[in-house]
Amino acid sequence: MTIEIRNPAEHEWRDAMRMTMAVFGDEPRDEDFERHNKMLLRERFWAAYDGDVPVGTAADFPFTLTVPGGELPAGGVTWVAVQPSHRRQGVLTQLMRRELDDIHERGEPLAMLWASEAAIYGRFGYGLAAPHFEMEADCARFAFRDDPGPQGRVRMLSLEDAVEPVMQVYDRVRTTVPGFIGRPREWWTTYRLADPEHWRRGASPKYVALLELDEQPAAYAIYRVKGDWEAGFPKGTVKVVEALADSTVAERELWRFLFGIDLTVRVESRLDPASPLFLMVVDARSLRLTANEGLWLRIVDVELALAGRQFASDQSVVLELRDEFCPWNAGRWRVGREVARTDDAADLELGIADLASVYLGAFSFARLAAADRARELRTGALARADALFRTERPPYCPEDF
Ligand SMILES: CC(C)(COP(=O)(O)OP(=O)(O)OC[C@H]1O[C@@H](n2cnc3c(N)ncnc32)[C@H](O)[C@@H]1OP(=O)(O)O)[C@@H](O)C(=O)NCCC(=O)NCCS
Repeated sequence: MTIEIRNPAEHEWRDAMRMTMAVFGDEPRDEDFERHNKMLLRERFWAAYDGDVPVGTAADFPFTLTVPGGELPAGGVTWVAVQPSHRRQGVLTQLMRRELDDIHERGEPLAMLWASEAAIYGRFGYGLAAPHFEMEADCARFAFRDDPGPQGRVRMLSLEDAVEPVMQVYDRVRTTVPGFIGRPREWWTTYRLADPEHWRRGASPKYVALLELDEQPAAYAIYRVKGDWEAGFPKGTVKVVEALADSTVAERELWRFLFGIDLTVRVESRLDPASPLFLMVVDARSLRLTANEGLWLRIVDVELALAGRQFASDQSVVLELRDEFCPWNAGRWRVGREVARTDDAADLELGIADLASVYLGAFSFARLAAADRARELRTGALARADALFRTERPPYCPEDF
């Protein structure tokens, strides 16, 4: 089988997208093509052709990712699919090759993605970079410890009116939390605050609640309600699409609102691993948190990626890096305020996917070593590397794409 990987021509693009949607069991609609055409770039959309038939796709959004102490360009990998007729014949591998080469040629140091299945991407050098919690909380047990009482006010906004204040809160938080992606206004109106009926899957339209403290936007929740009844009693679920607050008070008042919605007994939400909620409530167990591996990161250009990130100490370490899929990263690097290739003896040895796990601050080198994923070659090197890469808080990515 000969497979050609290329950007689809304008007239071929819809067919390639139709194939991808079918792989995910989705019915393509005209409005979907129009929506995605606004945000996807054809030169960053790769299709695998068997003759003139599209049998696989992979695309990437030109994102900006918050990293410790700054922001860097990152390809947001998406639309990954291979036709069932062509699976396990190396089509994905060819697509990943082409896409990572392209991101590298563009001079973008990072690629990232959310995986449909966790076993797929490690082989291409992606590592677990920002795990989160999934919460399925019981409203009946919800109460704050040492509750100082409600503050501020909540306003319900239309999706159109929500754009400005919600962007304000998001951008304030985004710059301080590694793992957040920059969202231009069009991203909000096309995806986050868009609400086509076929996205609802049996739940209500999207609602937006804005919390104001001192009359200023301080937090918001975008959510749906899934109503249900049993033997005459309500047992609905609040399904949070995104909840974000810019301070401790705002965080408490936002969750007070969400846990107080009538006719619901459960709140389901993704939760930032640094969320104060766990420590704020009387019954942390009732939040029912499950760990999820979250965002995957691929360091495409190790020199640019490390030079674009802040370090927390003046020391340096020498890393011996393995990278089979992108061999231009492999070898020995001195990492610190300066990042450069070196012939000095190595302090630590690890693979590029594991470096991605410490890059945003999710894991330490000591934890990697404890899991046999990094090897200390000189005594004290783990502690030195951890002091260097230390971050104020764990990363969090609030949106899959
Ligand atoms: C996941 C998917 C893209 C893989 O495509 P593919 O062309 O079959 O992948 P390849 O043949 O290039 O596989 C490369 C390697 O990954 C492995 N692999 C592929 N998909 C895998 C999966 N879902 N779970 C575990 N391993 C997988 C293959 O076994 C192969 O391993 P090997 O090199 O040791 O033989 C395809 O199965 C698919 O479209 N699935 C449904 C949609 C989806 O989940 N997309 C991903 C969205 S994030």
